[in-house]
Amino acid sequence: MPKINVLDSLLASKIAAGEVIDRPASVVKELMENSIDAGASSIGVFLAEGGKRVIKITDNGEGISREDAPLAFMRHATSKISKEEDLDAVLTMGFRGEALASVASISRVTLKTRRRMETEGTLVSIEGGAPPLVSGDGCPEGTLIEVKDLFFNTPARLKFLRSSDSEYGRALEIFKRLALINPKTRFKIQHGSGRPVETAPGTLRDRIFDLFGIAEKDIIEVNAPFVEGYIGAPGDGYPTSKWLLIYVNKRVVRDKSINRAVMDGYGQMLPSGRFPFAIIDVKIPPEDVDINIHPTKSEVRFRNQSFIYDAVKLAVRGAIGSLSAPGRQPTIQNRADYGYNRQFSPFSGPRLAEESASTGYSPGFSEPLPPPLPFLRDEGDDVKNPEFLGLEIVGQLWGEFLIAESHANGGEYYVIDQHGAAERAAFEKLKKRFYGEGIRRQLLLLPERIETTPDEKDAILASVGYLDRMGFEIIPFGPSLNGGGESFLIKSVPEVLKSGRCDRLIGELSEEISNVGGSLKIEDKIEGALMRIACHSVIRGPRQLTKEEGAALLKELARIDFASHCPHGRPVVKKYSRKDIESAFKR
Ligand SMILES: Nc1ncnc2c1ncn2[C@@H]1O[C@H](COP(=O)(O)OP(=O)(O)O)[C@@H](O)[C@H]1O
Ligand SMILES: [Mg+2]
Repeated sequence: MPKINVLDSLLASKIAAGEVIDRPASVVKELMENSIDAGASSIGVFLAEGGKRVIKITDNGEGISREDAPLAFMRHATSKISKEEDLDAVLTMGFRGEALASVASISRVTLKTRRRMETEGTLVSIEGGAPPLVSGDGCPEGTLIEVKDLFFNTPARLKFLRSSDSEYGRALEIFKRLALINPKTRFKIQHGSGRPVETAPGTLRDRIFDLFGIAEKDIIEVNAPFVEGYIGAPGDGYPTSKWLLIYVNKRVVRDKSINRAVMDGYGQMLPSGRFPFAIIDVKIPPEDVDINIHPTKSEVRFRNQSFIYDAVKLAVRGAIGSLSAPGRQPTIQNRADYGYNRQFSPFSGPRLAEESASTGYSPGFSEPLPPPLPFLRDEGDDVKNPEFLGLEIVGQLWGEFLIAESHANGGEYYVIDQHGAAERAAFEKLKKRFYGEGIRRQLLLLPERIETTPDEKDAILASVGYLDRMGFEIIPFGPSLNGGGESFLIKSVPEVLKSGRCDRLIGELSEEISNVGGSLKIEDKIEGALMRIACHSVIRGPRQLTKEEGAALLKELARIDFASHCPHGRPVVKKYSRKDIESAFKR
């Protein structure tokens, strides 16, 4: 079965042509990315004269078939996408089908490759973009690509290359960035007869130590919705932003706004003019980011830049904030709230045990912790609307509306929709948790089983990562009893949901979030879903409130940011002045 598709010209022109290769480091990047895409568990890089004379990459990945090997060097030939819609869902590093073609047109390339099931491998050699020569070869499983004499036929380009050491330095930098974000893969790089840099499979934390020599106690884990990684503990920082390493779905990118968000997340914890060490991987559904705006794929465009900025800043701030809460033990529960990865491989085995095992940087922090800085205070304590704190409840109407009196501004009274206010307060809290430490969940003693139609199943699968973060742990449970669909088990629900079955709610939420073909931005969908949960979390229908309950509600109202966007948008509070009353009586 051929694996490589030649893209049609329309799509080919959509993929803007451009310069992919400008120096040895860009060859190293493209070839290493190909090896990563090929599922290699071991990748070796060798350079001679900074890569100007030789760049050799070997991997033990899936290899290329005899039939496909020459095709791989054609422009716009890729096995990774085949139609336009695929551009919205790229999970591989490559997709433009340009790199090998570009490299082959400006150097002398040898490819040796063998797929596991093939007895004989394939050798392809190609020089300056001339037609490839193909023959059999007894090579090991995997792929070796050797690029010699880069830019031999483009002297203008050649002139711009720097010294061997300087070119190697750049290649090493990209090597480290790729090796860092793929810690389960073994990597090795060697320059000439120099000492190789080698790193064994391990965790991201191990890799940070291997490649940068930064110890565990000097880094803080970042594990928040949409954002994972490590940041340097507050300290002196570095004079340049060189170690601010940003990734989007493990793709190496440059993004000024994310850099800014990291810096702003540190706030005053970093001396001004200094930069932190940070590895930030933004995890976002592929359709919410355009990775095809630059030939080298190192710049991306988010559907909503400010959302990403906020998520990163909050994540960094939260990670630093966790330092000043020494009593806080990471629990399985709050870790499990962050299972966003499931969006990509929703049901990849039990994660709880694995996650709890890798939890907990707290043992590393035995030294006394610095006192919390003012900006790290729990923002939940901020009073946004102090006037509610001065209200006195004077009564209740029909068990639904609170009446409260104020002596401010010559006398005012408030009518408060109990249900609306409670719902709004719950919504604000959920939103804060969703973007902060995660929504608290409670395990169900008896998992609830739900049956779905094929459409509902798709909706659940598409939103399972978000639902997980909202506190619903959902796992598939085989074909549906009523035929055609699928059944799922709900193992946990958000803590705020007191009781009751939640099959309908999950149906509504997944439809809202997956909302195929809808035009809503993802954060609007999330807000809509959180509003639904909030609505289900508060008691509906008339009810007499006790004095304490009334006072608690007023306190909640004082904290709500009424300026913030609320999907339902119904008023919660109405205020009347003494004058309104007086004029009604023609006083
Ligand atoms: N190391 C490798 N192992 C297996 N297949 C590879 C490797 N390198 C390249 N290929 C194949 O060659 C094709 C073309 O590679 P490339 O020009 O980099 O384009 P892209 O990565 O954008 O698909 C890939 O789609 C893949 O099928
Ligand atoms: Mg590629």
